[in-house]
Amino acid sequence: MSVKEFDALIVGGGLSGLRAGLELSKKWKVALVSKVVPVRSHSGAAQGGINAALGNHPDGEEDNPVKHAFDTVKGSDYLADQDVVMFMTKEAPKIVVEFESMGAPFSRFEDGKIAQRPFGGAGSPRTCYAADRTGHALLHTLYEQCVRQGVTFCDEFFLIDLISVDKQVTGALTLDMTTGELVIFRAPYVILATGGFGRIFEASTNAIICTGDGVGAAFRANVPMQDCEFVQFHPTCLYGSGILMSEGARGEGGLLFNNQKERFMLKIAPEAKELAPRDIVARAITTEINEGRGFENAYVHLDLTHLGAERIKERLPGIRDIAIDFAGVDSIEKPVPVHAGHHYSMGGIGTKYEGDFCETSLNGLWAVGENACVSVHGANRLGGNSLLETAVFGRYVGRKMLERGLPSRPSQEKIIAAEKSMLDKIQSLFKKWEANSGKKPVEIREAMGETLSRNAFVFRTESELQLAVDDLKSLQKEFENVQLSKITSSADRKFNYGLIRTLELRNMIDIAEVTAFASLWRKESRGAHFRTDYPTRNDEEYLVHSMVIRNDTGDLEMLTKPVKLGIFEPKPREY
Ligand code: FUM
Repeated sequence: MSVKEFDALIVGGGLSGLRAGLELSKKWKVALVSKVVPVRSHSGAAQGGINAALGNHPDGEEDNPVKHAFDTVKGSDYLADQDVVMFMTKEAPKIVVEFESMGAPFSRFEDGKIAQRPFGGAGSPRTCYAADRTGHALLHTLYEQCVRQGVTFCDEFFLIDLISVDKQVTGALTLDMTTGELVIFRAPYVILATGGFGRIFEASTNAIICTGDGVGAAFRANVPMQDCEFVQFHPTCLYGSGILMSEGARGEGGLLFNNQKERFMLKIAPEAKELAPRDIVARAITTEINEGRGFENAYVHLDLTHLGAERIKERLPGIRDIAIDFAGVDSIEKPVPVHAGHHYSMGGIGTKYEGDFCETSLNGLWAVGENACVSVHGANRLGGNSLLETAVFGRYVGRKMLERGLPSRPSQEKIIAAEKSMLDKIQSLFKKWEANSGKKPVEIREAMGETLSRNAFVFRTESELQLAVDDLKSLQKEFENVQLSKITSSADRKFNYGLIRTLELRNMIDIAEVTAFASLWRKESRGAHFRTDYPTRNDEEYLVHSMVIRNDTGDLEMLTKPVKLGIFEPKPREY
């Protein structure tokens, strides 16, 4: 075991973590630990773009941050906190220009300005893009800047648990995946930027690494989980593999058809049509399939053929390649088979109502990006706002910490005692896993994915959600007896992916249970959470954030937090 000391520890090498690291390393000694090499982070998979009211598009010259905020709040079904949203949309043009000045290769209009395309739920075309590989372009740009500035990267370290003393975080216990050594990072500030947890579902557009490592660690450190019932199902995932077919495809003019050759979005959202917010389009597609108007009872058609080869090759080359490779369909010639699938988690690590954005209830612990619920997306995120959130709040957290300065720390003795106790706890857990005789981790993981995908998907009911809650409770019990071989020595743990998958499952099973529990609790339909037994929004009882904790008896308990309203009054959503 070794100990490394820093002023701040960032966990996660995607856009949120990198942007925080870039800011903090201007003045402080910062470590950025990541379970994969940062350029392999899931931010790189974001396709369609990043929203900012630049007004570059001829149909959006009048666009501004308040209009962007309005679209975001309406898209969120009024659950987003309006002060945070307003902050994000005002920062958006600055953050895109900052990326441009770092050299991000944005697509351009003829006049040289950054190109913008229409996206779902947006009143103006405000999504800036780099073809359909925007996340990849931004991730590499930011990583280069961090390398240039000398950020200390610790690649292939797995976050096991946070360490704290008297409600102040003091660091984290990690596993160096390449040596199998347990390593403590000691720091008075920890930023969790570990991305989403989509892999709790059976299938997802999320990379295999999206297992909620920061979310699980925060939950075990008694930080509440906020709004986890709000799970985004992307309308257009490729049939057969579930890979994302960017909303950019519909932004460029792609159309959706059922097996009757009907453009069904015309009746569902007469104004916005295919560019209604994702929750609405995902439900429409699922309904077409459920009611027998899909193809092979499994998908509808996303038709791009009318866009022409030149436009598809220039603006949507990535998804064309994916559809050819994984479905044998060239979008220049034929419609692409698509269905709704898990894509994003609006909920995550709860943040405080008072204080700075992204701060959690554990002093010194902050959360940014998809693992956090800040809450800019409310019940449904608009496409293009997620890349935006990462960079805006990564920079924000860095700036806030530098402004505040280093916090006072508990005594060295207490810190060392807490580290020892965490180390002992994990070593006992490893011994227990070795001695257990229960199921293999993969069996539990598959059962978790199945129950969520079957019982907490696009359309939800009381009885199905209850089934998911019950299944997950039993799976938690089974996980206690999970069986793993040879993990107690460093040599056993070196590149031991069986162990990594089990540590990931330890995080996922908690957040899966929270997701089912919160979904059962929310007896209304709002944004992406659609209850067929409670099909309308109920502002009187449920215009609140859900905050789930595990109480002293080990049960999940629901607390709530008010939504911060503002200039946009909650109204029925029409598109
Ligand atoms: O459809 C997409 O390109 C995804 C974008 C997003 O989730 O923001």
